[in-house]
Amino acid sequence: MATLFKDVYITDGSRAKAERVHLLVSKGRITEIIDAGQTPPSADKIISGRGKMAVIPGFVNAHTHAAMTLLRGLGEESPLMEWLQTKIWPVEEKLTPDYIYWGTLSAMLEMLSTGTTCFADMYFEMDRVAEAVLGAGMKAALCRGITAGEPGKIERSIQNNIDLAEKYHGREGLITIQLGPHAPYTVPVEAMKNITDTAKSHGLGVHFHFLETEGELQNLGVDPVKYLADTGLLDVPYLTLAHAVYLDPKSDIPSANVTLIHNPCSNLKLGSGIMPLPEWLERGFPVALGTDGASSNNRLDMWEEMRTAALLHKGANRDPVCVTASDVLRMATYEGAKAYGFSQKGMIREGWFADLVLVNLDRPHYIGANEENLTMYLVYAGSSADVAGTMVNGKWLYRNGEFPTLDSEEITQKAREAREAITK
Ligand code: NI
Repeated sequence: MATLFKDVYITDGSRAKAERVHLLVSKGRITEIIDAGQTPPSADKIISGRGKMAVIPGFVNAHTHAAMTLLRGLGEESPLMEWLQTKIWPVEEKLTPDYIYWGTLSAMLEMLSTGTTCFADMYFEMDRVAEAVLGAGMKAALCRGITAGEPGKIERSIQNNIDLAEKYHGREGLITIQLGPHAPYTVPVEAMKNITDTAKSHGLGVHFHFLETEGELQNLGVDPVKYLADTGLLDVPYLTLAHAVYLDPKSDIPSANVTLIHNPCSNLKLGSGIMPLPEWLERGFPVALGTDGASSNNRLDMWEEMRTAALLHKGANRDPVCVTASDVLRMATYEGAKAYGFSQKGMIREGWFADLVLVNLDRPHYIGANEENLTMYLVYAGSSADVAGTMVNGKWLYRNGEFPTLDSEEITQKAREAREAITK
């Protein structure tokens, strides 16, 4: 079935300006983009934009813990370590596979309705997360969060992560699997070496929290790049470092297979600090954008993350040009897709996957938007309230308040029951 977006604006993180076009989607991909002045191609379904709709790439939430929707609001306004140790970890002990399944689906409702088509998730009971993802038809980069604990726990978690990869890596083109060592302070160096050896022998990437707080940098005890090199993390097929607030942009970390994940709202809320994003961008280093879990953000809304990233660094650096709207749009889409092994995703190009967001521009705050300034309007004036539809592989997963592949009422009820059970 072919869907025609007739007379819509398109923009993405690679364009200096938007274009007004007809865009045809067929067999899951963008198959034709022609100027809106030309005769539109025929299609089974036509969405008439009349120059009042935009089509942008679906967002890739490059770092989250989806099922933490069930923990939202717990331990608000406390420092990271206290928050983890006294509020989060004890409640996580009570999570069952079913609770994680419904918590993840609840997160997916939030993400789809705000334009996210793919998310990178680090948690546990990831078989159930994969099941939720495949059932919905969304895309996800999944890893099992690996932490030390009682004897044998790390080894079991690594095996669990390998089993997950064997079962789900590449499945239906919707899922990629990474290894998920949690952080330097929860995984001993020897176990990290085991994990990176496993990543290399299985051809898997690694998703890792790194230098979220200043205390973590002090406790590391060695130069951060030396730590990454000594543990083998720089030699794995690809590496995503969530937060990297205290990683020095002047350090000689190679960029070939490393992406930093910026989580500005979570870092602000937990008082962790501000990543030196302008310096990384200046250097041309890949940086993607993520929300982190719903209990430290507390939204799973990439519009909010884009706007925060675009504003925060201007103020902190007293420089209104250091992070542009195009930069954050690219970080919120293409960079995350590339970082987790999803090719031909994150730009509006012929032949690329039709993972798209339909944006309603027929609203007061878009008056004056045109080809020249649309990306700026989206980032600075737009919000997730403008999302009219979210499509993955050419299929609507969210459209005008409805979720064609998900039972949103049941999910919300089950997630509510899970929340009650774990906080009782
Ligand atoms: Ni995190």
